[in-house]
Amino acid sequence: MIKSVILKNWKSYEESTLYIDPLTIVIGMNSSGKSNAVDALIFLSRIAGGAGIFQAIAGDVSLSPLRGGIDWVCRKGTRCFTLDVLVEYKGTDYGYSITIEVGTARALVSEEKLFRSGSKQQRIFYTGLLDNELMNIPVYFSTGKQGKGQHFELNRNTSILFQGKSLALKRKESAEIINNVAEQMKGIFVLDPIPNHMRDYSTLAERLSSDGSNIAGVLAALDDDRRREIQEKLTAYLREIPEKDIEGVWTERIGKFNTDAMLYCKEVWYEGDDCVVDARGMSDGTLRFLAIMAAMLTSEADNLIVIEEVDNGMHPSRAKILVNMLKELGRERNTDVLVTTHNPALLDAAGTPMIPFITVAHRDEKGKSQLTLLEDIRDLPKMIAAGNIGELAANGRIEEALARKGKP
Ligand SMILES: Nc1ncnc2c1ncn2[C@@H]1O[C@H](COP(=O)(O)OP(=O)(O)OP(=O)(O)O)[C@@H](O)[C@H]1O
Ligand SMILES: [Mg+2]
Repeated sequence: MIKSVILKNWKSYEESTLYIDPLTIVIGMNSSGKSNAVDALIFLSRIAGGAGIFQAIAGDVSLSPLRGGIDWVCRKGTRCFTLDVLVEYKGTDYGYSITIEVGTARALVSEEKLFRSGSKQQRIFYTGLLDNELMNIPVYFSTGKQGKGQHFELNRNTSILFQGKSLALKRKESAEIINNVAEQMKGIFVLDPIPNHMRDYSTLAERLSSDGSNIAGVLAALDDDRRREIQEKLTAYLREIPEKDIEGVWTERIGKFNTDAMLYCKEVWYEGDDCVVDARGMSDGTLRFLAIMAAMLTSEADNLIVIEEVDNGMHPSRAKILVNMLKELGRERNTDVLVTTHNPALLDAAGTPMIPFITVAHRDEKGKSQLTLLEDIRDLPKMIAAGNIGELAANGRIEEALARKGKP
């Protein structure tokens, strides 16, 4: 699992650590840096999946540009950024670090390494001295023996981590670790459900798209047992959301060749009056909630799912159901979840046991973004005695406490 990411000269960050737990909640004022931190996760997932570094930032035919594109990826006034990731695999922590040098029309690896973390670091691969004029960079892969290791000249526009997967490495253990770290990073899934995209028929698909638009197709493509099991879970959580009762949520294959699908639910407004609604008639909040659950239930294990403004469109009184669902399904699927929110009700629903997993994004006195664990705010116990977390967040008390901390 991915444990943390250090953002260095990334967008509004000079240097700050994003800790990732089974359920991480990131809060903060507008423009504090929440989405900038999420953008770093999108970038890592893209480059671990083999996207070119430049394309991962600027976009291409199959990728949308990162917000701000190439001009806004490095912190203003800098031309290089570094992301340091800590990943756990088979009980051991591995450090992965990538530094990218950015120009007007290029973004290239200037340093990259993977190592076994701990007091005695063991290198798995590392880049050597760079000739800035060249598109290639020397990379050394450990052979487990003394010396620099196995040497390759690799392309600077693709992550070494990705290229390392297809090399004939002498040390099989290194190949396994490289593969796993790359898979974990590639597996970061940023979900941004757009209800209007979910209302149409969708073709059968294996993976949920980031806007949730193919939810019906993904569920319909599952084998019968798995689909029934997932539909029962969707129904069980969903029926707690609206005022009405929901008797079932399901997908049906349609079309002459059964290659498309539609999502349906059966609503009961009063006894004896039930009504089947297809996705075209479902509410925005219902569709968003279904997309989040579908992402959790169909994701591969060990993934990290990221959802911005997770409670968008949900009634505050349902925040507790949402938090419980994220916790329960996350545990069941061994999937970590990172969400951002502006909603005090969600923080209150999370309650004090979640305090260690709440991160606050804020701007320091020099305007740089900082991520601080809520529990690290010195005045927190005193503040909580005066009001619950949602109230403190809604009234800007958390940011006030962080500003006090910044003063000499
Ligand atoms: N390269 C950069 N250098 C410095 N600051 C930057 C850079 N790129 C973006 N920013 C700053 O980041 C801010 C936007 O941050 P972000 O989108 O992460 O906010 P947010 O916390 O998600 O806010 P919201 O709650 O409104 O969505 C902008 O105000 C901009 O000033
Ligand atoms: Mg944002």
